[in-house]
Amino acid sequence: MSADRPLKVALFGSGRIGQVHARNILANPGLELVAIADPIIESAQALAEGTGAVAVTTADEVFAIDGLDAVIIGSPTNTHVDLISRAAANGVAALCEKPIDLDLDRVLACRDSLRGSETPLMLGFNRRFDPNFSAVQSRVSTGEIGKLEQLTIISRDPAPAPAAYIANSGGIFRDQSIHDLDMARFFVPDIIEVSATGSNLFCDYIEEAGDFDSVVITLRGRDGEQITIINSRHSAFGHDQRLEAFGSEGMLTAGNLTPTSVRKFTAAGAEEADPYLNFFLERYAEAYRSELGSFEAAVRTGTACSPGFDDGLQALLLANAAEESARSGRVVKIGQA
Ligand SMILES: NC(=O)c1ccc[n+]([C@@H]2O[C@H](COP(=O)([O-])OP(=O)(O)OC[C@H]3O[C@@H](n4cnc5c(N)ncnc54)[C@H](O)[C@@H]3O)[C@@H](O)[C@H]2O)c1
Repeated sequence: MSADRPLKVALFGSGRIGQVHARNILANPGLELVAIADPIIESAQALAEGTGAVAVTTADEVFAIDGLDAVIIGSPTNTHVDLISRAAANGVAALCEKPIDLDLDRVLACRDSLRGSETPLMLGFNRRFDPNFSAVQSRVSTGEIGKLEQLTIISRDPAPAPAAYIANSGGIFRDQSIHDLDMARFFVPDIIEVSATGSNLFCDYIEEAGDFDSVVITLRGRDGEQITIINSRHSAFGHDQRLEAFGSEGMLTAGNLTPTSVRKFTAAGAEEADPYLNFFLERYAEAYRSELGSFEAAVRTGTACSPGFDDGLQALLLANAAEESARSGRVVKIGQA
């Protein structure tokens, strides 16, 4: 791949995440946004306006673009498998949003269809690219805190998504926890056991949908590492995103981010700060940029994308196992898919 010309990139989806990717493509001199596809043409047109990209409604139009190097798949989850397969069949690199699909059988069929393909494919587990979380992970991996023994990941949304979203989300484990399950695998790739509990503590429509609003997942790694994931669909103080890695020789932590480091100390309260960065689009803005940069580098150099398809599959297996454990009250062993 020539380093002296920008990669031609098309974007599927002009919704919440599509807008983030469009901004980041445009800000990256190594990438040229050539098309935005969305069946709602007005939405594609609005995002494409003034960018030089064409607005289209179908995948056929995208894959007919001469010299297309890559696609970013930011369309709804049920479109991912088809678009991943089409990108691979056309030899076009893809960065696909998580999850690959909510249905394990479809993910396994997609994996079979990709066998033998060398076309780069990255999964959008953006939190691996958060500068704080990735610094903790790399310092753990270089042994700064000795042997990793326990990892705690806390991830709470500010407020529940609307009922219509919850109904199609695939449930809290596959929708929300999946990011944290991938984060767990970022530190401890080989997970052998999952247990989970789910509760309905505050949201009637989540309970009516048969889903949980609060879950705790415990994972065990092959070397006995203990990982705890705490998720809630709400948090009175905003988007709560923290992790703590505890090792034989110390601990590394990454806390919540505020827009500034200014703190107020008065008789009424010590260390009052601005509210946390809210919501994921702001909190992980840097991670989305860095993820795109990593994708570009992998496409240019022909190196394997990380995280890749298998990471998407493994996270889904863990999410399914967590759901099974929470429903059955049993510990679920993780086997080979
Ligand atoms: N990594 C993250 O942090 C993150 C955050 C949000 C969403 N996501 C994922 O991104 C995907 C999209 O989520 P969203 O919140 O942006 O949804 P959204 O509903 O805001 O936007 C989706 C857009 O895709 C369009 N669309 C529908 N079918 C399409 C098709 N076949 N081709 C092209 N466009 C199509 C819709 O018209 C809509 O404009 C989901 O898979 C979601 O899980 C990831």
